[in-house]
Amino acid sequence: MIEWHGFESPRRKRYYMALPSAKLPKVMSATIRENIARVEERISAACRRSGRRREDVRLVAVSKTHPPESIRAAVEAGLHDFGENRVQEAKSKISQLADLRITWHLIGHLQSNKARPARELFHWIHSVDSLHLAEKLSQASVPGCLRLPVLIEVNLGGEASKEGVPAADAVALADQISHYPSLELRGLMLIPPFLENPEEVRPYFRQLRVLAGEIERQNISKISRRELSMGMSHDFEVAIEEGATMVRIGTAIFGPRPPIA
Ligand SMILES: Cc1ncc(COP(=O)(O)O)c(C=O)c1O
Repeated sequence: MIEWHGFESPRRKRYYMALPSAKLPKVMSATIRENIARVEERISAACRRSGRRREDVRLVAVSKTHPPESIRAAVEAGLHDFGENRVQEAKSKISQLADLRITWHLIGHLQSNKARPARELFHWIHSVDSLHLAEKLSQASVPGCLRLPVLIEVNLGGEASKEGVPAADAVALADQISHYPSLELRGLMLIPPFLENPEEVRPYFRQLRVLAGEIERQNISKISRRELSMGMSHDFEVAIEEGATMVRIGTAIFGPRPPIA
């Protein structure tokens, strides 16, 4: 039986399975380069449309389930930021790619008992969804290490299957996190419900931006530049128009995530 990894909902899975390239066993490095060029053009166009500067949007290539060679190809094509969702999988890739200068982002749910390895491996954690996890991440710091930039994952769709704190709890969590000296709260992260028409996702992106503004107005100390991590392959342009500072793009760069037998 074939199992698919990386699809957060059956609708997302159906959408990607229907793409013509879904059966390609391997995406060659030339294709990755072309895909990146295309994504870059689309990011730039979305920035222009919304009067934003290209350098204000960070492209995080979501490499989960893809092999280190694909990441290497993406680095050769100019990318520096990569997103993984599992500590164990990332650990092996990070060690195989230790010769490259990569900023690693944890974008998937983190169990608090993996806080220590996550802190050792990743430069950013996008998926802080509880005070307990924040506490564990904070305790995992070692003297002299840099503060760890973290984002609070917010569940705006109210979907039980998704991680993240409800919007109503985000301000309180931001305040609590700001008291941990080894964490640097940098903003919010969103995985919206999967809706095929990206325009239908716009209200969620907008809501996250408004929520970030509310948190900012609380004058919670230590929130530096406000980051909004939102936008994936099929909706990142809308996310940029709504203020995304980090877009997390997997499929549009590496192709559909491979099935494992
Ligand atoms: C948290 C998160 N962000 C971004 C992505 C990238 O999604 P896509 O392949 O649609 O670009 C994934 C993929 O599973 C994800 O889990």
